Amino acid sequence: MSHIRNFCIIAHIDHGKSTLADRFLEITKTVEPRRMKNQYLDQLELERERGVTIKMAPVRMVYKAQTDMDKTRTDADNKMEAQIDTDKTLLYENLTYKIRGAVFSVRKQLGLGHKEIIYQKALRIEFKKIGLNFEQEKNIDVFYDKQKVGVYRPDFIIENKILIELKTLSFIGPQEEKQIWNYLRGTNYELALLVNFGPRKADIYRIINQSRENSPQLSASSPQLSASSPQLSASSPQLSAYILNLIDTPGHSDFSYEVSRALAAVEGAIILVDATQGIQAQTLANFRMARAAGLKIIGAVNKIDLFRTPINANIDADKRGLKTVVGELADLIGCQPSEIYKVSAKTGEGVEELLKAVIEKIPPPAPSQQESALGRALIFDSFYDNHRGIIVSVRVFDGEIKKEDEIYLKATKVFSKIKELGHFSPQLKADEVLKTGAIGYVVAGIKDPEEIKIGDTLFAFKNQEKNLIFSQPGLAGYSQPRPVVFASFYPENSDDYDLLKKAFQKLKLNDSALTFELEQNELLGRGLRIGFLGRFHFEITAERLQKEYFVKIISSFPSVAYRVKTLNGWRIISKAEDLPQNFLEIQEPMVDLEIIAPSIYLNNIFPLERAYRLTDIKIISQKEQIIIRAKMPLRELISDFNDKLKSVTEGFGSFNYILTDCLKADIVRVDFLISKKLIPGLSRFFIKVEAAKEAGKITKLLKKLLPRQQYSQSIQAVINNKVVSREDIPALKKDVAGYLYGGDRSRKMKLWQKQKRGKEKLKEKAAAKIPAEVFKELLRR
Ligand code: GTP
Repeated sequence: MSHIRNFCIIAHIDHGKSTLADRFLEITKTVEPRRMKNQYLDQLELERERGVTIKMAPVRMVYKAQTDMDKTRTDADNKMEAQIDTDKTLLYENLTYKIRGAVFSVRKQLGLGHKEIIYQKALRIEFKKIGLNFEQEKNIDVFYDKQKVGVYRPDFIIENKILIELKTLSFIGPQEEKQIWNYLRGTNYELALLVNFGPRKADIYRIINQSRENSPQLSASSPQLSASSPQLSASSPQLSAYILNLIDTPGHSDFSYEVSRALAAVEGAIILVDATQGIQAQTLANFRMARAAGLKIIGAVNKIDLFRTPINANIDADKRGLKTVVGELADLIGCQPSEIYKVSAKTGEGVEELLKAVIEKIPPPAPSQQESALGRALIFDSFYDNHRGIIVSVRVFDGEIKKEDEIYLKATKVFSKIKELGHFSPQLKADEVLKTGAIGYVVAGIKDPEEIKIGDTLFAFKNQEKNLIFSQPGLAGYSQPRPVVFASFYPENSDDYDLLKKAFQKLKLNDSALTFELEQNELLGRGLRIGFLGRFHFEITAERLQKEYFVKIISSFPSVAYRVKTLNGWRIISKAEDLPQNFLEIQEPMVDLEIIAPSIYLNNIFPLERAYRLTDIKIISQKEQIIIRAKMPLRELISDFNDKLKSVTEGFGSFNYILTDCLKADIVRVDFLISKKLIPGLSRFFIKVEAAKEAGKITKLLKKLLPRQQYSQSIQAVINNKVVSREDIPALKKDVAGYLYGGDRSRKMKLWQKQKRGKEKLKEKAAAKIPAEVFKELLRR
């Protein structure tokens, strides 16, 4: 386990995550050179087509290298690792079990984030409660060359058998483990527990001392500590093989839920910044998420090759630019500029050093916290395979998961048996076992998407351990993100509803942020009302359904959800057709917006204030960048705000947001009628002052898009029964009486009357039919 590193690459969109992952795959020879292609981990057709990552992608790499850690490796280190890894007999099992119980009950009652002394006092109470004999902060002499040079005071000695050392560190690295082991191996004690109340969880590390028999004479009554410094191994350092589990993540803000799930499965993250762009909004947002998850963060500046090309004539200015970005990233992380790695993911410059830093700086996974042999893993993703059924991606936190084990999914209460398990290479590669710390996949013959919940805990057990699983706590999991954009999807052919539903459920397995409910539309038939995390998420979902599941869909306009007060109380409404005429008040969702851009674009950004209804604006200058914080209605954000900001800042501006409250707004419902018949699915919400103008644009567009018919068609936009805009499409002319020569007026009249009746009939029927292309085209504008 000490040779496993689990990490993510996080960054703003296009800063080079997938390209950096390519270089890692090459260095570690994970992918054969002949199979290698750019952005290898972007496996979805849509990702490759758009050049954008939308799914997290795990891959296991094996890297044999001599790191700085290997250079200072000692025989003692090797021995310690061997002993920790072979602690299979669980020394003092019952006693350890009781201590664990005490630690977990303190964590549960106190929570995390307190000082060490608080945990010490709470544990004392807990130990007393469960009747453990303990000594607290007892002095143990430290000897050097048979002379006392100091004392060591473990936090507790339990039953004169187990030493306990408490920490409140963000992570426990090899150094901390080594320190305790050094103390322990000079004593008569065999077992120490290093208990860390970290920012995310409480970890217990078992450190055992099996070298006691070989130790120098020790007095049984007063155990001594050997203070001899570790000897450097005389033999030349060996190359160590490390298992590096990398999860590449998307950069777009609509997919930050993917990032947050990946972060919960790893111990560290590389935060990558494009040197020509500097820190951008998603750099900040992803950094904050990684920090909150308690991860070790390594900073790297990418695309340094661009400072070496002749195109950049002003080399000095570019060098200054690079220095500024490195400085800004160091400030953000809270480290020295010299600790920021400078790489070119494109040419490979500096990439191997960065990979070594992953090994040296990111801690290995914490040892298992469970006393029982149960395997306990977090389900962080899932997908559907036509042959194997549902495949879940897991991070094993405790114990082992073996082929043929039974499994129990805690949230959905599903039992099944493992058929296959393995790791991502990045293709699925079967293994016999996944041990603590591993990232891999599990297939258990589950076919129903309802039985899988992302964030759920998977327990693996043998039949005789079945009774244990119900008493074990689940892992923390994830909270379901809140959808902010809603739209209805209908099959283009209304008979294909079941196809659409099945396809959507499979897609949802792979995109757990999606929510849905069933929907019925007069014209379009049965469909799904879907909640998305943003406009881009909506567009990608529509495209994935068509590309990966071959379902042709018609989509309604995406909308945000409003809070509406009616005589019967408040309701949430995202579909304009559902807004009653006599509502009392409407409130729209607001966001706290954060724009980051180089300060030279400040004047270009100002005009966005009125156009997108920004309020409470605050501007913060940071060296050559500005941060603009403001409040903004969500409906403006999901319009063309992103494109506009990019265009006024020449691509250098970016934004991030968090959903806040709802505020009263002047919003009206606009219906569209064709030949006086309401077209369901076309109604939209508009801001009152803009409604007539915007409605006018849509009626004009409809006039352009709707095919001419044998009869005339009127297109009307209506607010509260009042027509605010109208267009007419004249009928196609056909002279039905043309072949009649002469003046048989009454026959001609008859024919004209018949034509008129026929047109009326056609009108009746045809008004209820809007071509799918028209819906799609309207949506595009
Ligand atoms: P998303 O996943 O869509 O957020 O993008 P990403 O962060 O994975 O970026 P990606 O690796 O797709 O790279 C974006 C663009 O930058 C591509 O055109 C890459 O070829 C280019 N790129 C990446 N790294 C470098 C680099 O070191 N130097 C240069 N010159 N270009 C790079």
